[in-house]
Amino acid sequence: MNNSIPYGRQNITPEDILAVTEALQSDYLTQGPRILEFENEFASYVGSKFAVAVSNGTAALHLNALALGVKPGNKVITTPLTFAASANCIRYCGGTVVFADIDPDTYLLDIKAVRKLLESAPRGTYQGIVPVDFAGRAVDLEAFRKLADEFDLWIIEDSCHSPGGFFIDSQGVQQHCGNGNFADLAIFSFHPVKHIACGEGGMISTNDEALYKKLLALRTHGIVKDEDLYTNSIEFASAKASTNQYPAWYMEMQMLGFNYRLTDFQAALGTSQLQRADFGLEVRRRIAKTYFQAFKNEDFIKGQSGVIEGHAYHLYVLEVEDRLGLYNYLRENNIYAQIHYIPCHLMPYYRELGWKEGDMPIAENYYKHCISLPMYPTLTRDEQVFVIEKINEFYNV
Ligand SMILES: Cc1ncc(COP(=O)(O)O)c(C=O)c1O
Repeated sequence: MNNSIPYGRQNITPEDILAVTEALQSDYLTQGPRILEFENEFASYVGSKFAVAVSNGTAALHLNALALGVKPGNKVITTPLTFAASANCIRYCGGTVVFADIDPDTYLLDIKAVRKLLESAPRGTYQGIVPVDFAGRAVDLEAFRKLADEFDLWIIEDSCHSPGGFFIDSQGVQQHCGNGNFADLAIFSFHPVKHIACGEGGMISTNDEALYKKLLALRTHGIVKDEDLYTNSIEFASAKASTNQYPAWYMEMQMLGFNYRLTDFQAALGTSQLQRADFGLEVRRRIAKTYFQAFKNEDFIKGQSGVIEGHAYHLYVLEVEDRLGLYNYLRENNIYAQIHYIPCHLMPYYRELGWKEGDMPIAENYYKHCISLPMYPTLTRDEQVFVIEKINEFYNV
């Protein structure tokens, strides 16, 4: 196999290129009609009432933390098994990140560990929870919502890995990631390795109209352009005094926001990619099934969850013996597997805040063995067979 095989890669089609070209030739490069179109289509894809397109997933997380009012001293619980941004958004607002360990079978934030934290502190100690649909497996948000309500907490669902994913609720209903039925806010990333690629890009979904309006303002410097929301302070009311309506230029900067806008041509790419999202999911699930079948009886694999209904398979992770050896062997063969993740609490930044080895034993043990195999819709059958062959060869199967 001459071509290198990464763990993830984008798929840009002629339709995508046409959509971007059309956007570039239109009157708008940023915040034109394609933003709203992408937001509406994305909201209907995940099943939420509202969606707000932003410049990347990290910006989405930051805006969520701001919209929910995270302040210095506020404590928020998240998983150590995630990309740093899931935790960092709390730090951007001066809040305190408290990690709770993962469930060894699902690799998701362990609700029992979260409950233990909540029960061992005075009420009001914690403000919120940021569960992550790690690898594409949907968190059981129905259970998390019950817990959050018990302790008066908000939930941000980090769904960067799971557009199109779902869990089955207690009534047997499919609950799609980011549908807003349980989490206050959910976020997605459109980084090239994700299901939908915009280069950079992100989306927030919610069913809460007040939060939606606040997020729209925070995305653009805290500027509000909605007559119903104007402050009507005496000075500003004079702006409409003579004609009894606000002049067209009128706007108010009501809070400290940012420029986290997505461009119109990125939105065009996102909308175009969204049309193939279901097909991409289907292929990812097929690839997962093939890996599962290939390794299900092998004892060099420590854990394989099987093929899980509703899993969006951003990643296909294995826990293996001699992970470093396998990783290097695959690289020698042009296969660029990846490691997700070095537990967040062990990053030097979080160590400086007091976290240390031994604090999250399950995530730490997982990290010693995990490896993410190539997983993307354009991975060919031959390439996948080659990956499986090389893994078997390494373990002398
Ligand atoms: C779980 C998770 N959260 C947040 C992010 C941040 O997204 P972005 O890279 O678009 O800022 C990522 C992306 O890598 C991610 O994987």
